[in-house]
Order: sequence, then structure tokens, then C-alpha cells
Amino acid sequence: MTTTATQASGPAALLRLAGVSHVYAGQRRRTTVLKDINYTFQRGTFYTVLGPSGSGKTTLLSLASGLDAPTRGTVSFNGRNLAEIGLGRYRNRHAATVFQQYNLLTYMTALQNVTTAMEITGVKPAQGSRRARALELLARLGLDRAEATRNVQQLSGGQQQRVAIARALACDVDILFADEPTGNLDEDTAQGIVDTFRDLARTRNTCVVVVTHSQQLATRSDRVLTLRKGKLTEQLNA
Ligand SMILES: Nc1ncnc2c1ncn2[C@@H]1O[C@H](COP(=O)(O)OP(=O)(O)O)[C@@H](O)[C@H]1O
Ligand SMILES: [Mg+2]
Repeated sequence: MTTTATQASGPAALLRLAGVSHVYAGQRRRTTVLKDINYTFQRGTFYTVLGPSGSGKTTLLSLASGLDAPTRGTVSFNGRNLAEIGLGRYRNRHAATVFQQYNLLTYMTALQNVTTAMEITGVKPAQGSRRARALELLARLGLDRAEATRNVQQLSGGQQQRVAIARALACDVDILFADEPTGNLDEDTAQGIVDTFRDLARTRNTCVVVVTHSQQLATRSDRVLTLRKGKLTEQLNA
């Protein structure tokens, strides 16, 4: 069963999209990507977003993660408009993103990519140093010490993808966005990362929003959203 994705905001409400539309204006034509989207993301919930290529999944994430402002409508975090919080401040303090193209700092090692993000966002681990915490996260994602201390350009696509995930996990945020984060990974590694996302939602009450092509990944999430023809719908489990 499918329904237009709208629900009321409750105590767990974290991020609300209200009347969100987005249009890209080119020189010759305008592309309307999102049409009047209303949805509330909750804490402690693992969401997946499915949809055909070009349906606007990356656009949706860029608006929800404060990289861009919608053409119409509002995005609010904890009841405050992102424009009011400040997009930069929101991204720094509350949200982390695993980009489709990783966006790693190419002149640094894997370890430096993770510790630099922790410094920028002001994360201090409860125990141990940032370096130790970063190494632990990288190891959990399957990168040994030699790989962690190698320049990221000397890592494979799958390894770079895991560095991008480690960097986002290190930042201890309220909401984590990931754009096709398992695209370059084998099935076992992808499974491990899905477990990490579920765990983050369960144990840290994080809101996790993952764009994916994988129906299998979607079945492991709490809520499955589909973006098609500019509309966001939620698949309800029967
Ligand atoms: N910066 C941009 N300028 C113009 N058109 C864009 C831009 N970014 C994306 N688009 C267009 O918007 C639509 C949705 O893109 P995108 O959000 O990347 O979709 P998806 O991630 O689902 O593949 C596509 O038709 C794409 O060509
Ligand atoms: Mg995309």
C-alpha cells in the first residue's frame, strides 16, 4: 500500500519539510524536481529513499541537509527554519552527509579526513583522542591502520566510500544523510554498513536518511520512502 507521505509532528519530530518545491532554472528551460513535499523525519528512525535515477533524490538530500534552500516551502529542524538557524551552522552542528561522490579531501590520509571533520564540528570523544576514535571507526568499517594512514587517492572506490561513512559517523550528529552509500561495496560490506546505520538509529537516537537503489537495503530500514514525479510517498507495511 502506498500513501502520500504526510504525518503530524510529534515529540520525536526532528526535521520537517513543509510545502517544499524545487526548480532548477537553466538558460532555456526550468526543471521542476520536487513538488509540494510535506514530510516529518523523526529521531531514532532509519529511513531509506528509493526512486529512479533523475527523480530528485540528491536534490531532496541537499535541501534536507542544508546545502541548498528550496525554491518554495520551508525546511525546519527542531521547529526552527534552517534559514533562521543558518545553513552553515546547521550543517556544522546537527547534520552530516555521506556524498555520492564522497567529497574527501584528496591531499589527506583517510585518518586525517576523519579527524579534520571532528575538529571542524568540535567533536571530542568521551574517552581517548580523536585519532584513536577515528582509527577505531575506520577499523570497524574494514580499513586497517596501513590503509587509514594512506592518502585517500591511493585507496579503492569502495575504501574511499567507507572513509566518507566513517567521517560522517565520527561527527556525532542528530541527523545523518547518505547518498547511495553502498553503491561501490560488495554485499557483505554493504550489509555491515546497513547494520551500522540501524545501530545508530537504535542506540544513539539518530535520524538516518539513506538514498539507495537497493531494495534489499530498504527492507532493513524502518520506513521506506519513494520519490517519483516530484512526489514523496511512503510505503506502509501491511
Ligand atoms: N544543479 C542543477 N542544475 C540543473 N538541473 C539539475 C541540477 N541538479 C540536478 N538537476 C536535474 O534535476 C533532476 C534531479 O536530479 P537529482 O536530484 O540528481 O536526481 P537523482 O539523485 O534522483 O538521480 C535531474 O533531471 C537533474 O538533471
Ligand atoms: Mg543522485
